Amino acid sequence: MRKPKYIVVRRSHLKYYTDIELFYKTQSGNLLLYKPKGMPFTEDMASSKPFLGDLYIREEDKMASIEAAQKGFNEQLVHDIRSKDLTEVREALSSIVDETLSAPRSGGLRAMSQTAQVVVTGFSTQTGIIKNLVRIAFSDYTTTIHSINVMALMVGYCYYVKKSEKVTHQWALAALLHDVGKTEIPKEILNAQRVLSNEEFETIKKHPAIGADILNGYTEQDIRSVIPGVVEHHEKLDGTGYPNGIANISECGKILGIIDCYEAITNDDRPYRSAMEPLNALKYLKEEVDKDKFDRESFSNFAYSLAVH
Ligand SMILES: [Fe+2]
Ligand SMILES: [Fe+2]
Repeated sequence: MRKPKYIVVRRSHLKYYTDIELFYKTQSGNLLLYKPKGMPFTEDMASSKPFLGDLYIREEDKMASIEAAQKGFNEQLVHDIRSKDLTEVREALSSIVDETLSAPRSGGLRAMSQTAQVVVTGFSTQTGIIKNLVRIAFSDYTTTIHSINVMALMVGYCYYVKKSEKVTHQWALAALLHDVGKTEIPKEILNAQRVLSNEEFETIKKHPAIGADILNGYTEQDIRSVIPGVVEHHEKLDGTGYPNGIANISECGKILGIIDCYEAITNDDRPYRSAMEPLNALKYLKEEVDKDKFDRESFSNFAYSLAVH
């Protein structure tokens, strides 16, 4: 019989694992059942039934545990948006996206559609919270934070140009997932603290196509609908972008490319570059518009959407 494999779980996720068996390690290294299925994990339980070190789940429960955590974080997010706690909102969003990016090929992206919907709905009632998300300081600038910021800016844009709720949801999801292909780019390249070689840059340039490939593994229509935007977010109107060098870019791809660029340059995304002030970033984007890289109308609407509260 194949020996079951176990994975350590994060303590902050335990409260969501009601329907998942938890295990603890004995001093001799054996794994024994800590809590059966159907029983919630509580802090009371932890004090009455203390465990040394970590708790584990079976490897085969990994997907179920990701879904359970995402569901919990999505509920937390609804609550945090309502209570207008900016730090908590970012925390919940980061947790969902981190969890998702840990298994994008095995179904982990499904929960993102609901996350995007929660943010879109949240924007209509608590606009300030979502708008201010991009303004709060963070110490670790990662693909997760970048994707959340791009989504928040996208939702603001869609409201400004009065897109329907359906389109807003779709484009918010595209924003959240636009860099999902980066999960398969080696970390040494992605996080390199130096200027990249041409070869390394070519590797990074594969991420839109990898992203589309990941999304193609899904049958859900809402996830499939974001594929064009994801694959086109680095294309340019004059055909000098990548991966396909096309000039005929979808509406979502056009605005996603602008917001993606704005978000990246206003943050310190590479240690050897410094972040630009929003106004300078807009000036830079305007120059790119004048060089036929970005769409003029999308750009000017985006610039206005930043100013409106
Ligand atoms: Fe990208
Ligand atoms: Fe990006």
